[in-house]
Amino acid sequence: MKRIGILTSGGDTPGMNAAIRATFKACDAMGMETFGIYHGYVGLIAGRIEKLNHAQVENIMHKGGTILRTSRSEEFKTEDGRKKAYRMLCAYDIEGVVVIGGDGSFKGAELLNDMGVAIIGIPGTIDNDMGYTDFTIGFDTAVNTITNEIYNIRDTMRAHDRVGVVEVMGRNCGDIALWAGIAGAADLILTSECCMEWDEAAAKLMDFKLRGKLTSIVVIAEGAGRAADFAEFVHNKTGIDIKAIVPGYVQRGGNPTASDRVLASRFGMRAAELLKNDIGGRAVGIKDNKIIDVSFAEAIATLDCFDKKLYDFSNDVLARF
Ligand code: F6P
Repeated sequence: MKRIGILTSGGDTPGMNAAIRATFKACDAMGMETFGIYHGYVGLIAGRIEKLNHAQVENIMHKGGTILRTSRSEEFKTEDGRKKAYRMLCAYDIEGVVVIGGDGSFKGAELLNDMGVAIIGIPGTIDNDMGYTDFTIGFDTAVNTITNEIYNIRDTMRAHDRVGVVEVMGRNCGDIALWAGIAGAADLILTSECCMEWDEAAAKLMDFKLRGKLTSIVVIAEGAGRAADFAEFVHNKTGIDIKAIVPGYVQRGGNPTASDRVLASRFGMRAAELLKNDIGGRAVGIKDNKIIDVSFAEAIATLDCFDKKLYDFSNDVLARF
């Protein structure tokens, strides 16, 4: 393979740039040219494609966002849209493409791969909701960002003897809530995988208060409900002074952690190696600290596995008062 393309798709995530850089450099070292495809599948269909050079991937390792921009494409979900994308790749003589994104992006990648272009997927989403890989790029950074937010919030909640409920992203996956909740010493974590009734949660917070714990931090995953609704519910039920905080997109931006940078670089290395060997249709991942690759079908079908034991340990043991 002589020419490959690379694109970022879906929600951006810190570490995408590190993956672009590593893929470019690995391909360059192996004698392959890399073409940047801008704005994900939207840009692929529209032909927003240019050859990348070393200067373009200089000084991007530490930057959040994606230099290639990203999008969610409705047109690419149609057969007609994918045919346009395929024709565009043929026009540029691009034989393989690295797609950095989440499961939605991988579904499109699999269909494009079936049309005859070798596609490799790199998992990039803060949600960490892809079961075939232990970690996705950006998750560690998002967890660190929320952990720091929790400590800031705790300071001001403590000063007023308040309860703070922090709503975090993750779509239907509670991993950000669980990990940031543990790292932030949360007193209660609510996720959609392990749903605790809000009545029970309110009773728990009241019990904390009656036993002298005047400040508590609750972390709620967006899939488990809105922080504002939970705060209103608890206040109406118990009279507790409770504030809802939604950090929102703050957790999707920012400099990637060292761990995300290294993970992204390892993924980029494997993606380039696969394409060099004319292998497509694979999603790169990490299991037990080893880089792996599996078929897109397996990557998409492997259900995300939430660590219920860790969740119970956090709520039942770490949060004891
Ligand atoms: O998938 C990443 C993610 O940030 C989710 O955590 C969140 O639910 C969603 O994207 C937000 O999407 P948008 O960028 O369209 O607001």
